[in-house]
Amino acid sequence: MGAIIVTGIPGVGKTTVMEAAAKARGLRVAVFGTVMFEVAQAEGLAKARDDMRKLAPDVQKSIQREAAVRIAAMGQVIVDTHCTVKTPKGYLPGLPAWVLDALKPSVIVLVEAADADIHRRRANDATRKRDEDSIEAIREHQEYNRRFAAAYATLTGATVHTVRNDDGQVERAMKDILAVVA
Ligand code: AP5
Repeated sequence: MGAIIVTGIPGVGKTTVMEAAAKARGLRVAVFGTVMFEVAQAEGLAKARDDMRKLAPDVQKSIQREAAVRIAAMGQVIVDTHCTVKTPKGYLPGLPAWVLDALKPSVIVLVEAADADIHRRRANDATRKRDEDSIEAIREHQEYNRRFAAAYATLTGATVHTVRNDDGQVERAMKDILAVVA
C-alpha cells in the first residue's frame, strides 16, 4: 500500500487531529516539516521551522527532497505535510514529482476548516511565527490546495478525501480521518 498523506494549510489543525488519531489507534505519523527542519538545521539554513518557507525555492526543494527520502525509509507511516507551501515567490508544491516518487501516495487527505476559524487559530497560536494572511488569502490557499491535490491524484492514482476540522470538533475530524486511513 502507498503512503497516506494528510495535508492542510497552516493553522487548519492537521497536526492536532493527527496527534489525536495517532494516540487513538497507535498510528505512526511522520511530520514532513519536522524532518525538513532537521535537515535545514543540520545544514545551518534555518533557525525556526517558520523560516523555511522564506528560503529560496531551490533551497526549499533541496531540503524537501532529502526529507522525502528520509520519510520513505521509515516504512509505513502517515505523512503530515503540505499540499502547497505559501512562499514569497508563490505557491511551492509540497508534493512535486520527486516527493510523489519517494512516497507513492495511495490516499491524500485534505484537512479544511472555515477560513475565519483558521485566521483566528493562527492569531491565537503564540508558539509560532505564522503568516498574517487575510481571510481572503486563507480562502485562496485552501482553494489552491484542492487544485494541487487533484494534480497529485491524477499523476499517482491516489484518492482524495476532504476532512472538515470545525471549531471544537477535533474528535469528529479524527474519526473521519481514521475511517480512510486506518
Ligand atoms: P508544519 O510544522 O507542518 O507547519 P504548519 O502547517 O504550520 O503545521 P502546524 O502543525 O503548526 O499547523 P497545523 O495546521 O497542523 O495546525 P495545529 O494542529 O498546530 O511545517 C513547517 C514548515 O515545513 C512549513 O512552513 C514549510 O516551510 C515546511 N514544509 C512542510 N511540508 C513541506 C513540503 N511537503 N514541502 C515543502 N516544505 C514543507 O493547530 C493550530 C491551532 O489551532 C492550535 O492552537 C490548535 O490547538 C488549534 N486547533 C486545531 N484544531 C482545532 C479545532 N477543531 N478547534 C479549535 N482549535 C483547533
